[in-house]
Amino acid sequence: MDEIRLVGVIGAGTMGNGIAHVFARCGYDVMLCEVEQRFLDRGLATLRKDLEREAAKGKITAEAMQAALQRVTGVLDRNRLRECDFVIEAATEKFETKKEIFADLDRITRKDVILASNTSSISATKLGQATGRPDKVIGMHFFNPVPVMKLVEVIRGLATSQETFEAIRDLAVRLEKTPVEVNDAPGFVSNRVLMPLLNEAMYAVMEGVATAEAVDEVFKLGMAHPMGPLTLADFIGLDVCLDIMRVLQEGFGDPKYRPCPLLVRMVDAGWLGKKSGRGFYKYE
Ligand code: 3HC
Repeated sequence: MDEIRLVGVIGAGTMGNGIAHVFARCGYDVMLCEVEQRFLDRGLATLRKDLEREAAKGKITAEAMQAALQRVTGVLDRNRLRECDFVIEAATEKFETKKEIFADLDRITRKDVILASNTSSISATKLGQATGRPDKVIGMHFFNPVPVMKLVEVIRGLATSQETFEAIRDLAVRLEKTPVEVNDAPGFVSNRVLMPLLNEAMYAVMEGVATAEAVDEVFKLGMAHPMGPLTLADFIGLDVCLDIMRVLQEGFGDPKYRPCPLLVRMVDAGWLGKKSGRGFYKYE
């Protein structure tokens, strides 16, 4: 793992630009790959803003901020990742999308390269099957906001080798994160427990038990959560929440994972939370 110098990150959305941020801040060169220039521009602008925020708060020096920014190159052609020593995918939470990316990365990258997914719920074992190197495929699940949250859930696929697991666990430590080992199962630990909580909070709103504000107050003041569940759902993205609930519903086949109909309707309406300007709350 010492040989990792250049890291490929697929997807410049909320998670992808945050992941690129922490790698660049920790001295790695990064190729941030997107499908369209406008998504790349938006991701790079966020990355810059977040690094500037850290510099303004004195967490990093102005020089370190500039150096980190210079380490990140935006690319639109996935073939440019052929030089990378490690690649992490942070595309949308859809199996078919991730599968296509993993098959492509298997073709593009050197055979010794570990391919990780910032999967929120999709099986690392299934992603491994999309490649000719399932022993080198693993889940490396970061949390939003990535520059701040300490956890990396490291998900072993059934075929993931011990060597790959140890390399990713050590890599997380080098990124100043705390790795927690989890076996492959729908939603792993984090989203298996978190998403049903958020989903249930949505049912409470839908059924008129309380307003979104009241539900959030209960969790902030009664359980010391930094954000109430509906603010958190808006922050994560309601489309992401729905995708994860569907993975849980399909993976466990248990009706308790049924997505809240209000969540489905809001996603249909394009109310995706903070990123779209409207979710359970309205944003400027
Ligand atoms: N980049 C860099 N720094 C950031 C940042 C970012 N994107 N966002 C926040 N920060 C920093 C701020 O500058 C501030 O720094 P300071 O302590 O030096 O002042 C610190 O983080 C706290 O931020 P704020 O003062 O702006 O606001 P809060 O105190 O309200 O904290 C929060 C914001 C850290 C987001 C906090 O509300 C929180 O922890 N919320 C819960 C987040 C959470 O649960 N995340 C997990 C989501 S689930 C997930 O990601 C998994 C996926 O699969 C769904």
